[in-house]
Amino acid sequence: MDHARINQPPEVLLSRYEIEQRVAELGAKISLDYRGRVPHMVGVLKGAWVFMADLIRHMEVDVTVDFLGISSYGSGTQSSGEVKITKDLDVSILDRDVLIIEDILDTGRTLKYLEDVLLAHKPRSLRVAALLDKRSRRIVPVRADYVGFEIADVFVVGYGLDFDQKYRQLPDIHVLRLAPTL
Ligand code: IMP
Ligand code: MG
Repeated sequence: MDHARINQPPEVLLSRYEIEQRVAELGAKISLDYRGRVPHMVGVLKGAWVFMADLIRHMEVDVTVDFLGISSYGSGTQSSGEVKITKDLDVSILDRDVLIIEDILDTGRTLKYLEDVLLAHKPRSLRVAALLDKRSRRIVPVRADYVGFEIADVFVVGYGLDFDQKYRQLPDIHVLRLAPTL
């Protein structure tokens, strides 16, 4: 990816303050729903780790954590739905209350794949928390139980989300507009 193709500086869609407030609300809601349980939070690498790091600090019940590393084929702005597991779970999820932590739901293909993989390991329950949801782009009918923000059909970066592995470090979430390929 050539920097010269990005024709304008990223504009802020969601500020760090809005994100912080919403993540706190999600943590409170999820904690209430899991009262008396110990949810096993499975973060999807790499996009979700910043969100997860903030979310667990708003959890008011004990939690355990693990990570699943995946990479979608291709490095453009479209996910192919073909997913490669680059890091498997460390511990068994049998009979656990598993909560998948995702950065963003787009077509839904990635989440569908992940849900199928995890359900095969017989968790007691399986829910999904996604920071962002581009609902209008859905191709596969999946849904998150907890959503931070529903957003329009734009490509976003920052707060863990990347374009070609870049921009994950930005504290806010920005819209990335790409110059048309000539
Ligand atoms: P899906 O399989 O089409 O739902 O795509 C989900 C994955 O594509 C996410 O976990 C992200 O890694 C990536 N993705 C989709 N939209 C965006 C975006 O706007 N910015 C960054 N990554 C995105
Ligand atoms: Mg991702």
